[in-house]
This record gives sequence, structure tokens and C-alpha cells, in this order.
Amino acid sequence: KAEKNMLLEFTEEQEMMRKMVRDFAQNEIAPFIETMEETDEYPLHIIRKMGEYGLMGIPIPTEYGGVGADFISYILTINEIAKVSATVGVILSVHTSVGTNPILYFGTEEQKKKYIPKLATGQYIGAFALTEPSAGSDAGKIRTRAEKKGDKYILNGSKIFITNGGVADTYITFAVTNPELGSKGISAFIVEKDTPGFSVGKKERKMGLHGSNTTELIFDNAEVPAENLLGQEGEGFKIAMANLDVGRIGIAAQGLGIAEAALEYSIQYAKERIQFGKPIAANQGISFKIADMATEVDAAKLLVYRAAELRNRGIKCGKEASMAKRFATDTAMKTTTEAIQIYGGYGYTKDYPVERLFRDAKITQIYEGTNEIQRLVISKYLLGI
Ligand code: CAA
Ligand code: FAD
Repeated sequence: KAEKNMLLEFTEEQEMMRKMVRDFAQNEIAPFIETMEETDEYPLHIIRKMGEYGLMGIPIPTEYGGVGADFISYILTINEIAKVSATVGVILSVHTSVGTNPILYFGTEEQKKKYIPKLATGQYIGAFALTEPSAGSDAGKIRTRAEKKGDKYILNGSKIFITNGGVADTYITFAVTNPELGSKGISAFIVEKDTPGFSVGKKERKMGLHGSNTTELIFDNAEVPAENLLGQEGEGFKIAMANLDVGRIGIAAQGLGIAEAALEYSIQYAKERIQFGKPIAANQGISFKIADMATEVDAAKLLVYRAAELRNRGIKCGKEASMAKRFATDTAMKTTTEAIQIYGGYGYTKDYPVERLFRDAKITQIYEGTNEIQRLVISKYLLGI
């Protein structure tokens, strides 16, 4: 089995899932890209349809309304969707990896029964609210406060850059319950969109990922029922980190999808574009670029599916997830940069898709832990400091 995985051979079920997702991406997502690029409209109708196809709950057990497929099928799905749209890829990744999984892994039976079937079928959209204006990479220093008053926690503070902000139904929100304990004083909550005192603030205007909402969240004496505490008080940072370990494999798959798309477009264009009486691909200056792009895409693929397979087998994979995220997203940036060079002036225009891929690639090096933070995680595993 391990050898088979090194050859990136997938099971029949996984291949079927991949084909279904490829067709879905071509037929349902591709036609909406121009609208998202021009108007920044959230692809809500696509997300609802993904729910109907079971794509919003791929790795979620059937008893909670999911498809109950393996983790590889989930990663293949993000990989294939991101080849067509990084926007829809991130919406799906955040919804599943960090928007739903924390409830599955740390929720009570009541919380699981109440929220997961709705999330897994796409009736609800999930979000993950960790980052604050003064705490991004240093996530252990968040300031949003949660104070228990009777049967409620009262939350005060704000979050920034939250994916699915304003469209999500539930937000896995991190807040400080005991300021004296540092990151061990952080707790996690399931915050519903209609919570009194909770509101959605500014929506960011971004370089890329058009169509994906990124917003501020405001907690002004927000009243969260005590039963919506996720896990124990003080367990929040661990919950965030453990789910980010898994989430980072999703972002790695998103980077891989972007890189693969850039490579495919580059090969096609380099063979078609004639200069000096021959295809530009006939110049080593171009063909060697393509050789390097393909080599790095393959290396990224191996790292992504190794991390996914470890996760699939229930083996701890924090280091491997960070390696995959770091490498696959750097590959996305490099590959899309080269793709624009291969397209020349046309690559710099919005008439060709490589310009969008380049803008979308950049964010993958930043979110779910910047690539500097991934190096910090990897080196901690290696050096123990
Ligand atoms: N799993 C479980 N527990 C973990 C853990 C993990 N992977 N990593 C750390 N912990 C625990 C540690 O064990 C430690 O507890 P003990 O003292 O009991 O051992 C505690 O958490 C504190 O650990 P550290 O001292 O290592 O924590 P730190 O303050 O140095 O921070 C960090 C570590 C890796 C830099 C972390 O702050 C981090 O990941 N920062 C990046 C934040 C991030 O990724 N944000 C993403 C937001 S979501 C998003 O971006 C979504 C999207 O775009 C699409
Ligand atoms: P900073 O932490 O201020 O970092 C600035 C620079 O300093 C970076 O290059 C960083 O790598 C570097 N740096 C910081 N510390 C170190 C160090 N110790 N060593 C070396 N270099 C360091 N957050 C959520 O909680 N939920 C979401 O859904 C979400 N979605 C997002 C979507 C988008 C489009 C964007 C832009 C962000 C999103 N984020 C989300 C936030 C994202 O995770 C953070 O932006 C990211 O973790 C970095 O934090 P920061 O922006 O505050 O940068």
C-alpha cells in the first residue's frame, strides 16, 4: 500500500470521486469565474449545489450526514477544485477542515447532532475565527475576551480576515477565558450567526481569491450559550492547532491545484505560440522552465499526498502537513510566476487565466500559518526548540 501511494495510485472510489469533482468544477464552477472576478460575488449557488453532491461533508461520517469518504478523497477534491477555482477551494477547505472538524473531534454528542448534519450537507456554511488585528502569526496572544455569566459566555473583541465571514452560519471562535494563563487560557466556542451582540464588519478588498468573503467579526457583549463551549475551558489553543494541522493539508492541496493549472496552461501555450518561426517551447529557455515547473509540481504532489495518507491512517502529521503546505504553496507562487513569463505580455492581461492564478497563489503562502510559521513548526519538530 505504501509503495502504491508513492506512485500516487488511487483506489477506484477515489478515482470516481476525482472524476465527478473534475466534471463538477468544469460544468458548475468554471462558468462563474468571470462573475466572481468582476463583481467579487460569493458563489453561494455553487456551494449549495456542492452540498447536494455531498462535497461539503466528504470526510464526515455518514451518521452525521456526511459522505464518510476517506481523507484522500477529500484532498483530491480540493486539489481538483483549486485547479479551476482557488476561491471555491478555500471556501470548501475552511468549511470542512477548520469549520466542521473541530466539532467532530472536540464537540459533545449534542453539539455534533445539532450542527454537523447541517454543515456536512451544506445547509450551513462553517467558518473559523482565530486571527485578530494584533495576533496573526502569534495566535496565542489573541485578546477577544469571554466571561462566563450564568448560563452564557459574554464575548468582547474583534476578529479579522475571516473566510466565509458574513455568509457562514457557524463560526468556531477563539477567546480568552483566563488571561493569566496565556495560550492555556484560550477557549473555543461555536458562535451562531444570529448571536445577539455578534456582527460582521468590514469586508476586505483583496488582490485575489475574488468571490471568497474575508471579513472582520465584531463581538460586542455577544451572548453565547454556555453549552456552545467547544471542549473544555482552556483547551481552545490546542483545538485550533490540532485542526490547523489538518487544515494545512487542504491549503497545500489548494496550492498544488493552482500550480498544476499553471503548468498545464504553460505547456499548451508554449507549444502554440510561434516566435522566430517556431513554437517558443523549442527554446531551452522556455522548455527548461517547464521541466523545472513539472519537477516541482510532482515533488509537491508527493508531499501533499504523503501528509494526506498519514492523516488517513490516523498518524500524527503536523510536521508533514507543514512541509506540504510550505512546499506546495511556494511551488504555486513559483509556477504561476513562470507561467506569466511564458505567456509574455498576454500573461499580464486578464484575458488569460495565468494572471488570476498568480494572484491567487500569493495568499496560499500567507494563510493557515505563513510559510515562515510552517518553517517554525517544522524546525521545532526537528530541533525540539
Ligand atoms: N496540536 C496540538 N497542540 C499543539 C499543537 C498542535 N499542532 N501545536 C502546539 N500545541 C500546544 C503545545 O503543545 C503547547 O502546549 P503544552 O505547553 O501543554 O505543550 C501549546 O499548544 C503552545 O504551543 P507553542 O508554545 O508551540 O505555541 P506558540 O505560541 O509558540 O505558537 C505557532 C505556535 C505554531 C506559531 C502558532 O501560534 C501558529 O500556528 N500560528 C499561526 C496561526 C495560524 O495558522 N493561523 C491560521 C488562521 S486560519 C486561516 O488562516 C484560514 C484560512 O486562511 C483559509
Ligand atoms: P503577521 O503575523 O503580522 O506576519 C507578518 C510577517 O511577519 C509575515 O511574513 C510572517 O511570516 C512574519 N513573521 C511573523 N512572526 C514570525 C516569526 N516568528 N518568524 C519569522 N517570521 C515571522 N484567519 C482566521 O482565523 N480564519 C480565517 O478564515 C482566515 N482566512 C484568511 C483569508 C485571507 C484571504 C487572509 C488574507 C487571511 C486569512 N486569515 C484567517 C488570517 C491569516 O491566517 C493571517 O493573515 C496569517 O496567519 C498571518 O497573520 P498576519 O496577517 O497578522 O501577519
